[in-house]
Amino acid sequence: MNGPASHAGLDTLLADIDVARSEGLAAIAASSTTDELAQAESGLFGRKSVLGQIKQGFGSLAVELRATAGRALNEAQQELRVAHAVAADELAAAARREQMQREWLDLTETPPGPGRGHLHLVTQTTERLEDVFVGMGFTVSEGPQAETDWYNFEALNLPAAHPARSMWDTLYLDMGERTELGDGEGGEATNVVLRTHTSPVQIRVMESQPPPIYTICPGRVFRRDTADASHMPVFHQIEGLVVDRGISFTDLAGTLEEFTSAYFGKAISSRLRPSYFPFTEPSAEFDINCVICEGAGCQTCQRTGWIELGGCGMVHPNVLTNCGIDFEEWTGFAFGFGIDRLALMRHGIDDLRDMYTNDIRFLNQF
Ligand code: DAH
Repeated sequence: MNGPASHAGLDTLLADIDVARSEGLAAIAASSTTDELAQAESGLFGRKSVLGQIKQGFGSLAVELRATAGRALNEAQQELRVAHAVAADELAAAARREQMQREWLDLTETPPGPGRGHLHLVTQTTERLEDVFVGMGFTVSEGPQAETDWYNFEALNLPAAHPARSMWDTLYLDMGERTELGDGEGGEATNVVLRTHTSPVQIRVMESQPPPIYTICPGRVFRRDTADASHMPVFHQIEGLVVDRGISFTDLAGTLEEFTSAYFGKAISSRLRPSYFPFTEPSAEFDINCVICEGAGCQTCQRTGWIELGGCGMVHPNVLTNCGIDFEEWTGFAFGFGIDRLALMRHGIDDLRDMYTNDIRFLNQF
């Protein structure tokens, strides 16, 4: 009974194993993604696979032939496992390469040009302002954004509890135990604030260099304000400071007028209105002709023809004294205004918040 029929059974089995092996290899080779390969797996391995089913047919083989059939089957299975592992590795690597290509982000700086991005409007405005003042002989100075109470208020003639401090909605920083930030005459910094204006840079400049001083200080400032169409808790100012012998109020007025026509063009001029700031005496508000209607009167300037740009005045003797400068020998003027609002007006933008939502369609217009 163990005659040719059983051998014939073996031959058929071996032929079936060979077919299953080649078909399995073909299925692996045909998988072009890890998902497709995963789908092919159930046909390749396990009891329900083609080889698994052939193995179940071993029961009808003569015992002495089973070893031959088993070896052929194991070899075929092993071959499929290796081919599968190699394909799985290759497909995973290809998927990673494809993902990296897709998500690749070029973080290198590219020169400005069409479609390549450009500086933010506020940065552009700051740079233009710097250019105009540098052209007038000013240097550019910078100071820290986290300031001590001394620099932000006290040295600017705003002692603690001075009612004018309420002009600035201040953000105080919780420094924990640390007090070593203070390096001014006010002693240790028990109060550290996010600077509410660029005026503290005046103090730092006067402390660090002797007059004559002709400098501007652009930078970021912070106030406890809720964002609306004309306010942001973070915005930008530019400060100007001149200290020299014989500086008078006419120098201030002349400098601001010169700046106004250099920056806005000859059609726009400036005026000063009496005002109050603790760090200047006398103090003034600095207005310019409305840049939208050039003084004729429109919605932006509430039909007055004028727009308030900032504050200015003659540096208060107390401020000079706080910086160790003899106010009998030296006098000076200072001014400060908002950069964001200036950019807003120049470009007829009605909502300040648009500048900071980073909508590329908005930013691309400037
Ligand atoms: N620091 C003032 C503010 O933020 C603006 C200012 C007014 C600056 C008068 C000055 C100045 O230098 O002299 O409201």
